[in-house]
Order: sequence, then C-alpha cells, then structure tokens
Amino acid sequence: MGESILTPAFGRVDGALVCEGVALETIAETVSTPTYVYSANAIREQYARLARALAPVPHRVHYSVKASSSLGILALLRSLGAGVDIVSGGELYRARLAGFGGEDIVFSGVGKTEAELREALEARTLLINVESEGELRLLERVARDLGVVAPVALRVNPEVTVNTPHHYTRTGERGLKFGIPYGEAPAVARLAASLPHTRLLGLDMHIGSQVSELDPYRLGMLRLLELYEQLRAEGAGEIRYLDIGGGLAVTYDSEAPIDLDAFADAVLPSIAASRLTLLVEPGRFLVGNAGVLLTRVLYRKRTGGREYVITDAGMNDLLRPSHYNAYHRIEAVRPRGARVVADIVGPVCESGDFFALDRDVDDVQPGDLLVIHSAGAYGFSMASNYNSRPRAAEVLVDGERFGVITTRERYEDLVRHEQLTPDWRTGGCS
Ligand SMILES: Cc1ncc(COP(=O)(O)O)c(C=O)c1O
Repeated sequence: MGESILTPAFGRVDGALVCEGVALETIAETVSTPTYVYSANAIREQYARLARALAPVPHRVHYSVKASSSLGILALLRSLGAGVDIVSGGELYRARLAGFGGEDIVFSGVGKTEAELREALEARTLLINVESEGELRLLERVARDLGVVAPVALRVNPEVTVNTPHHYTRTGERGLKFGIPYGEAPAVARLAASLPHTRLLGLDMHIGSQVSELDPYRLGMLRLLELYEQLRAEGAGEIRYLDIGGGLAVTYDSEAPIDLDAFADAVLPSIAASRLTLLVEPGRFLVGNAGVLLTRVLYRKRTGGREYVITDAGMNDLLRPSHYNAYHRIEAVRPRGARVVADIVGPVCESGDFFALDRDVDDVQPGDLLVIHSAGAYGFSMASNYNSRPRAAEVLVDGERFGVITTRERYEDLVRHEQLTPDWRTGGCS
C-alpha cells in the first residue's frame, strides 16, 4: 500500500485510493455515491491507543454516540469494550439496539425531557449527567414515581478558557448554556446528595470539541476535584466517578492532534490520587479520521473567473464546512496528474453548500471520484434531507471485506411520515 493520508487505513494501490484492503472504486461501483466509508481497523487502533494511555487508572471509555451513531459503528465499539455517552432518547434507543446495557451508558445533554429521564431510569443507565437544578428536581420526581433512585453525576461548567477552531464547539466557558455554573455547583450537589430519590455518584465536565491544549483539561479537572474534596469533607454524596468529557482533537489539515501521553500526564496523577474512576466521552478522536465521504464529480463549471467542481454530495451529507467553516482534505481517488484551484461544491441550492473554497486540488473531470477526508465524526450523523435529498449510504471496511451498514435512502423514505391531507381535528375554542 502507498503512503498513508491521515491514518494508515487509507492509502494508494496502483495510483488509486483504497481503504484497508478494499478499492474505493469498487465501493462506488457497488454501492454508488455519495457514500461514507469507514475503516474498522482505524477505529480499533484509536480505541486501543486511548485505552493504553488511560490504563494506569481505573477508567471507562464512553464513546460519544453523536459523532457517528449508526448501529454498525456502535456494535464495533461495543465489541472493543467501550461504553457510550448519549444525549437523547433516540441515542439511548440506538445504544440498546447495538447491545449496550444500562451500566454501559452515561446520559448527557442540557435539555432532557421528562420522557427521556424516565427512559434512562428504566434502562438503568450508569449515570445521568444533570445540568441544572431544574433537571435535578424533575429527575427526583420521575425517579420517585418509578420507585427508584436515580444515579446522578453533576455536569459542572468549570469555566475555563477553551481554544477550539470554531466557537460553536466550546462548552466549558463561563456563561455558556452547558452545565451548572461552577459557583452554584456545591449547592446543587448538596441538594442531589440530600434528595431521597437521587444519588450523587459523579462529577462531570465537557469543555468542548477538537481541543488539543491540555490546560483546559488540567484546570477543569482540578476545579472538579476541588469540588469533590469539599463535598467529601462535608460527607455529601457518594462520588466515585469523575467524567472529564470528550473533545480530544484529531488532525484535519496540519494541526496537532491531542498528544495522548501528555494528556495522560496532565490528567492521570490527580485522578489516581483521588481514587475516583475516570470516565471519558470521546467521539471525534475515535472515528473522525476513520471515515471518508466518497463522492462523484457531476460537472465542472467556470463562472465569473471562478472554477467550480460540482459533486453529487452536498451540505446535507456533510455539514461541517458550511456550519463550522471546517477544513477537510480532498483528493481524487485516481488523480489525473494535473492540478487546479477550484471551489468544490454540492448541488444544494445554497451558496453555503461547499466543501472547499479556492482549493488547490486534483484537476478532476465529470465522472471522477473524490474523497473528502476526516468525515467519520459529525458527518453522516449531522446529515439531513434538505432539498429532499435521500441520505447517503454507509459502508464499513474490515481488511479485505466491506459491508453496507446503512442503506441509501430512497424517495419513499423521504415522505414516509407525511400526509397529503392532514387528519383534521377541532381546536376547541368555541
Ligand atoms: C457531553 C459531550 N460529551 C462528549 C462529546 C464528544 O466530543 P468529541 O467528539 O469532540 O470528543 C460531546 C460533543 O459535543 C458532548 O457534547
């Protein structure tokens, strides 16, 4: 295999891109395009690296389902020993279908509904990461009605400075909607410890996504441990878990990924001293560079002095460039040799429907295949049907074999829940 791109899973054989032992051209011919292609071994490798780095302390890796939620990906991560971090009843449903038990699940999210809290309690999730006093009081009532005691971790906003490529992905700074403000956390923790149907078992933070600096983790964790010591001294709660969230950065272009050894050095000593069990919730780190979006060039176009490559994938398939101004490497599956500076755009009726602007890329022609790299996280899971475009297929590659884990949607799927005329009812105003 030729030189690796962002993971050894993708390389070139006889000039054409392959994923592990499978030619991307074969996948495009068999499954058509656009299609997400994931390398099982790239996911295994990232999981193993992280598990090795955290091995010195009791820990569990809870994969953040939102990054890539399909059952085939969840089943693979479960087979590696991961638990999951979920943020909705829908993700709980997926996790259960993929075989995760309640003890494998932590439930995060700033706006859980009463129904979701009930579902989480019925599933006996390991922890419910509570983000406000209101949520705690609602959880207490739901648990009382069910006759159970809810396992609570408080998601605390550690109010640290977080540097991420886009401000939408910062969650641990003062004033953001996430978590309980640090100053209010002791009072909410005491309440959680005192309510009859909640048990305070953990403290939690999630500071942001695509974080490569260690200081926010170190500082955030120290703030959580300070709170832990304070509560312990008061005899409040039975805290045994410290969940430091996800956010570990990967390389999209040339930026440094998180340095796992340095991360372990920053985090593990204080965890070891506290004797708490460490929980982490990585999403992007495990799957980001394990997946690509395979798309076919539909047209070339030149207008107003700009050169366009128009692909059959659009922003509805991969929202990150448009939503976060995110960079993704793009290259031809079988380069022709020449290069061109072009905008690579989709067919969606929005000027924001682009994958790259003014990019020096392979001089592809209609019918050629392109690969958009680092699309494994927040790719398919953020896809929509905008412009009534059926969502793409997903394919998992493992060695020499590949299999469809999500079939391409059909037009019927687009209207499955729709009615030509509504089932009219009266509104009861008279
Ligand atoms: C609570 C929580 N945990 C974990 C994650 C995963 O983040 P990442 O994919 O950057 O690891 C997220 C992502 O937004 C999150 O909201």
